[in-house]
Amino acid sequence: MWGKKKKWESVENMGSSLFSIWLSLVIVLHLLFSTSSSSSTTTTLDQERDKINELPGQPTNIGFNQYSGYITVNQKAGRALFYWLVELDSSQSSTTTTPPLVLWLNGGPGCSSVGYGAAEEIGPFRIHPDGKTLFVNPYSWNKVANVLFLDSPAGVGFSYSNTTSDLYTSGDQRTAEDAYTFLLNWLERFPQYKHRDFYITGESYAGHYVPQLSQIVYERNKGIQNPILNFKGFMVGNAVIDDFHDYVGTFEYWWTMGLISDATYQNLNIHCDLEVAEHPSDECNKAFDIAELEQGNIDPYSIFTPTCDATVSTRRNLRSLRIRNLLRSRHLRLSLNYDPCTEKHSTVYFNLPEVQKALHANVTGVSYPWETCSDIITDHWNDSPRSMLPIYQELIAAGLRIWVFSGDTDSVVPVTATRYSLDALNLSTLIKWYPWYDNGKVGGWSQVYNGLTFVAVKGAGHEVPLHRPQQALTMFKSFLENKPMPHLRAI
Ligand SMILES: *[C@@H]1O[C@H](CO)[C@@H](O)[C@H](O)[C@H]1NC(C)=O
Ligand SMILES: *[C@@H]1O[C@H](CO)[C@@H](O)[C@H](O)[C@H]1NC(C)=O
Ligand SMILES: *[C@@H]1O[C@H](CO)[C@@H](O)[C@H](O)[C@H]1NC(C)=O
Repeated sequence: MWGKKKKWESVENMGSSLFSIWLSLVIVLHLLFSTSSSSSTTTTLDQERDKINELPGQPTNIGFNQYSGYITVNQKAGRALFYWLVELDSSQSSTTTTPPLVLWLNGGPGCSSVGYGAAEEIGPFRIHPDGKTLFVNPYSWNKVANVLFLDSPAGVGFSYSNTTSDLYTSGDQRTAEDAYTFLLNWLERFPQYKHRDFYITGESYAGHYVPQLSQIVYERNKGIQNPILNFKGFMVGNAVIDDFHDYVGTFEYWWTMGLISDATYQNLNIHCDLEVAEHPSDECNKAFDIAELEQGNIDPYSIFTPTCDATVSTRRNLRSLRIRNLLRSRHLRLSLNYDPCTEKHSTVYFNLPEVQKALHANVTGVSYPWETCSDIITDHWNDSPRSMLPIYQELIAAGLRIWVFSGDTDSVVPVTATRYSLDALNLSTLIKWYPWYDNGKVGGWSQVYNGLTFVAVKGAGHEVPLHRPQQALTMFKSFLENKPMPHLRAI
């Protein structure tokens, strides 16, 4: 996690027969009217091949389509990125406007957007503790958008490279370029999404991926009248933004929450503040090690909830049996009761051969198992600029929509880190700090700057939609509608 092996992640989900009929019609129309019938027919057939018929253990009567598969991003090296598209649940949607396309990226670096984003945050399904069956996430972001999950870079999740050395040479720049190539090639397979309103979202170390990819899209769209990638803006959560301010804010959070000693607080500030977070010095690493020992076996990504280990040891404790039964019955009532072991269920589920087959994943039979995060990628990360603030400035000046949110019980990329980083932009305020409401209760706090909206989510950990799914969906809707977070009453 932090220290020598920091992981900023997540540190970092059917078809109806009507759709099949529609798709067949599209194919026939393409055959009849297309001027270059051979290439566009192939395109549509590739898309049809990627359609997920049904996932093992999936609930029935699902009102949306899903597609997944590979897009080659580098022919020579044999790099292919895995995507999972979850289309709008039109049975649940009242929107009359064309629903946008939203890309979601998890961080790490090295963590899977399928394992985190799709399976435990904003996807349509979550995985039961049996690792075999799925249940519906009522707050899935495909209630309002078409959501595209991408395992990035190659070597993460189901994304792979035929050039093994690629796994040891990943960095920000190639990750962004590959993701951009992915988008262009993906749109050739899904031409119905060309020119569609497009947003890039993600969390944690995707605090680097999201602005960097946004910058490439923005710059390459310049001067184009009606760009294929109709990029509108980005949103990041518990995001790595600026190493210096993130460090200062993180150490302050640890000390203020009573997680570390005065001496360690001081040492961290002396030895780490000016370091590049991906490549800290020995002195800084030492301070991190001590901080980790002082913090103890807590879940740093959500400091007030039990760790997965803690849940396991509780299970062995007979005296807690009554409490456990109470919790279990609560679990049956609340479909989205927090489960600290959800990563374990993903690891079982996504390694099932029948799941991989249904997802059109691992078609080349890579030699290593599926993991939520790849240690090889994390441990061999190369270029990682100290600050994303210059990109923020460029994209704010370009008038793009930029939202930054933060779950305030995360100690890995805490709310204080984000606030110091955003303060460094010196933006003027349009709407001053206020509590925002969800179903009559404070959901968190928000401030609208000239060019950027900040949203804190009360009681949420590093993976905001995992801990506060309803509030996260409210926030996502506000972002798409380009409206401030809801007030209880007009201020
Ligand atoms: C990787 O190699 C396998 C086996 O040779 C091949 O089937 C696959 O198409 C290659 N992938 C890419 C992206 O070139
Ligand atoms: C890919 O499939 C092979 C078997 O063909 C399996 O051993 C391996 O664990 C799988 N890896 C991933 C990343 O899915
Ligand atoms: C913000 O203001 C501070 C203090 O005036 C200044 O040092 C800093 O360079 C400014 N930052 C930006 C991004 O303009």
